[in-house]
Amino acid sequence: MQFSKRLDLFGDEIFAALNERKVALEAQGRTIYNLSVGTPDFAPAEHIRKAMMDAAADPQNWKYSLRDLPELLDAVCGYYKRRFGIEITPDQVASCAGSQEGVGHIGMVLCDEGDTVLLPTPCYPVFIAGSLLGGAKPWYYPLTKEHGFLPYVKDIPEDVARKAKYMIVSLPANPVGSVGTPELYAELVAFAKKYDILIIHDNAYSDIIFDGAVGNSFFNTPGAMDVGVEFFSLSKSFNVTGARLSFLVGRPDVIAALRKLRSQIDFGMFLPLQKAAVAALEGPLDSVKEQCQMYEERRDALCQGLRDIGWELPNGKGTMFVWAKIPGGRTDSMAFCMELMEKAGVIVTPGASFGPHGEGYVRFALVLPPEKIREAVEAIGNSGITVTK
Ligand SMILES: Cc1ncc(COP(=O)(O)O)c(C=O)c1O
Repeated sequence: MQFSKRLDLFGDEIFAALNERKVALEAQGRTIYNLSVGTPDFAPAEHIRKAMMDAAADPQNWKYSLRDLPELLDAVCGYYKRRFGIEITPDQVASCAGSQEGVGHIGMVLCDEGDTVLLPTPCYPVFIAGSLLGGAKPWYYPLTKEHGFLPYVKDIPEDVARKAKYMIVSLPANPVGSVGTPELYAELVAFAKKYDILIIHDNAYSDIIFDGAVGNSFFNTPGAMDVGVEFFSLSKSFNVTGARLSFLVGRPDVIAALRKLRSQIDFGMFLPLQKAAVAALEGPLDSVKEQCQMYEERRDALCQGLRDIGWELPNGKGTMFVWAKIPGGRTDSMAFCMELMEKAGVIVTPGASFGPHGEGYVRFALVLPPEKIREAVEAIGNSGITVTK
């Protein structure tokens, strides 16, 4: 069978070797600290689960939904007002089966073959996949230590900016943990206006932000609504990753275009999920805040712990991840991850899996309680692996 050339755009699964070894070590009874997966270990709130289960008890709710219920669109608008102070209307909202799916299709919505798009590196891998599936040619803007792991538009050449169709920005950023500032967002809006570029902001981590900072929406920036759309996911804020509850919010023309594409391939979100999303969006938010505090305690346990054993790294400022330069002058992130798993029983994600600028780093996920994280750090300290520069 000759498969499509499109499939050749994607490399082989680089985690296979790591997973295989993990299973073997677990079978030997080794203690493993898995800090690689990006799935929260917290539970969704009771009222969200109840809404889902009540709706699932009604057979009518098992039919094709075919559309986003008006009450769901209204709930997203209400949430944007309550959480971010922003007025939006239902024509500015479309659901997707997770931001992953929405981003995965956005290139097909916006690009023709060969169009240039601006993507961060390192980045969440579907930014690349979704652009390539749309036939676009990514131009990678690096998130470097020198610029606080933030987009630095002054370094994007004029000729590249002129032909770019869209720019994906995602702050707080996975995997690097940097967070945006009003000044940076204003600079991005000005850049987008000057070169007629659509900014696609992926806001998956607006509720996981530390040290007293407040996570906002891209639309808190004056002029952002003219130049942007935002992926708004319930996955991490409400611990509903498996339910695939996300939305694209913003410019009505882009929203309508995404809806048009998705209506060719999807019959709508399962109605009990729509009800669960409404419950999350309209319900109490105290657990979201408490959880942010817990992520911060985990961040502190990890970063302080690693520093105490001599591994120099900056504090992550947001997201459920910490980005760490590989110590000991080493650069091969895959080899380092294998060694860390073998000798310390700690599993982290190789930076290379986030694009070319990820090499030389690893990503820790804050998915264990602080005491387990301290144990993991101790295991690293006792492993004999060089953790100093
Ligand atoms: C930056 C970023 N965007 C989107 C997602 C996925 O969101 P969803 O569950 O809505 O597909 C993730 C998940 O790890 C992420 O890190």
